[in-house]
Formats: sequence, C-alpha cells, structure tokens
Amino acid sequence: MSDKRPNLELAYALLTVQDNRELYAAWAKTYENDFASEMDYILPNRVAQIFLDMGGTGPVLDVGAGTGLAGQALARLGIHPIDAIDLSDAMLDVASKKKIYRNLFTSDITQPIATSNYSYQGVISSGTFTHGHVGPSAIDNLLSVARGGAFFALSINKNHWFERGFAKKFESLKGVIENAFTTRC
Ligand SMILES: C[S@@+](CC[C@H](N)C(=O)[O-])C[C@H]1O[C@@H](n2cnc3c(N)ncnc32)[C@H](O)[C@@H]1O
Repeated sequence: MSDKRPNLELAYALLTVQDNRELYAAWAKTYENDFASEMDYILPNRVAQIFLDMGGTGPVLDVGAGTGLAGQALARLGIHPIDAIDLSDAMLDVASKKKIYRNLFTSDITQPIATSNYSYQGVISSGTFTHGHVGPSAIDNLLSVARGGAFFALSINKNHWFERGFAKKFESLKGVIENAFTTRC
C-alpha cells in the first residue's frame, strides 16, 4: 500500500481483504473528521432512515459498521439492539466507544459469517458494497444470519450495480427476497 494519507481514492482502490485491513487500521482514528465531516457524508443517515421507513425493527446487524455512523443514526431513530460486524478491529474499536452496539464482531462478510448464533430482524449497510473486494456473493452470507421476514437496507455503489453483478444477484434471489426496491441516496 502507498504511504499517502488514507482517503476515499485509496479506499476505492482496495482489492484484497489485507489491503482493507491496512487502510482502515491507518484511517480509523481520523475517518470521521477527515472524511465523514469534510464530505458531509449523509449515507449512514439515509440508510438508517430508509430502514425505519420500511418498517424495520431490531435486532439489527450493521454490516461493515466501521466507526459506527450508521449504528448511531439507527440508535437516534430508536432502533435497538444493534450489533456491528466489520473486518477491521481498528474501526470497531472506535465504534465500541460509542456504546451503541450490543455485540461487535470482527469478521469478513465475504466468508460464512460468525455472529455467535445471533440472528437478525434487520440488516443494514452503508458504504461497504462499493469499489473493492466485497461482491454480490456476500449477500448470501448476510441472508444466512437474517430471520424470515427481516428487512434489509443496503447501500450499493451505483457503478457496481450492473458491473459487479449485484443486479443479477438480486434477480436470482426473487422468491427468497420480497418487495425489493432501489432508490438513489
Ligand atoms: C467506507 S467504510 C463504511 C463504514 C460505515 N458503515 C460508514 O458508513 O461510515 C467501509 C467499511 O467496510 C468494512 N469492510 C470492508 N470489507 C469488509 C469485509 N469483507 N467484511 C467486513 N467488513 C468489511 C471496512 O473495514 C470499513 O470499516
């Protein structure tokens, strides 16, 4: 990895799980000030609001929770309990200090997910299905920890919707997922 300061451009260039761990280990402490505040990053709030508006309830798994911005937004909307899952211990360390999560799991969502037998009535994700290594096969891993009738609110980078096969993936899940819709954030 280059020794440039972590930023969105480097995050978009991530190709492997190890690259991801290294970048977010270096970024965790400054992510919210450098990136979220400077960019006026509203995605976590939008995802949380959409989840609430769909009728979503807890328990919720916040996927690629990072420093906890989406979990915070959900908690402000009165949704509990919330668990966090992320590849990066460093990002989860920051999230844990917010005291909004019931459990924090360090786990790779491109592999079968270990959430200590917890299952979820809701699954949200903000900013994780983007450039990089998290492709549509991770959706199957999320479904494996969701209860029947669970609500999902996932942000997916619009450039990757067709290119990385997300559109095809959701098409193939017709009959498993009901009432799927897309909206721009
Ligand atoms: C751009 S950050 C978004 C964090 C937070 N959701 C937000 O909106 O601020 C992407 C997060 O996804 C996590 N991530 C990337 N690949 C992952 C994977 N394979 N499994 C779990 N988490 C992953 C990263 O560690 C990082 O914390």
